[in-house]
Amino acid sequence: MSKFIEIKPEELNQSPFKLIGKEWMLITAEKDNKVNTMTASWGGFGVMWGKNVAYIVIRPQRYTKEFVDNSSKFSLTFFNESFKKQLGYLGTVSGKDEDKIAKANLTISHLEDTPHFEESKLTVICKKLYAQDFDPKCFISKDDDEKWYPEKDYHTLYVAEVEKIFIKEE
Ligand SMILES: Cc1cc2nc3c(=O)[nH]c(=O)nc-3n(C[C@H](O)[C@H](O)[C@H](O)COP(=O)(O)O)c2cc1C
Repeated sequence: MSKFIEIKPEELNQSPFKLIGKEWMLITAEKDNKVNTMTASWGGFGVMWGKNVAYIVIRPQRYTKEFVDNSSKFSLTFFNESFKKQLGYLGTVSGKDEDKIAKANLTISHLEDTPHFEESKLTVICKKLYAQDFDPKCFISKDDDEKWYPEKDYHTLYVAEVEKIFIKEE
């Protein structure tokens, strides 16, 4: 089993723009002893309500949403470049249709009672604080509403406390 070492949020020295936007992450949660995951490239890290937080956005049709909604916690996991193909697959196929975690050859384990992957280089354990569906009335940039939501499938925004961050011991 890989060894993960806890670091403080202030010690995270990688750009969230690169980590999330370019390298992508997996959002993973558990429901009734079953784990599902999906790739995400939108979201962020920051500070809210006096807490270190992560925020993610999930469209209503994602199977992973049921898992995130039914759990108080979820993980965000980040991988080396060599996993990009698996992340592409996990972001195209639904866990409703395939046992995609097994097919992607990823190994589920738990940190802080939250599912994550042994193969990750960085795992962020998150505790949900807030969830709200994006509201079309609130768009200041109407262009983005039109561009990203022609089907009106507005993401739910989740703000979650960063409970712990782990990096893999090399
Ligand atoms: C690079 C990439 C980034 C993605 N980012 C998001 C995202 O931030 N939010 C979202 O709802 N879907 C996102 N998706 C789509 C989901 O990962 C995809 O629909 C996935 O198959 C859902 O799986 P599930 O039905 O098992 O949850 C992304 C897909 C890719 C390939």
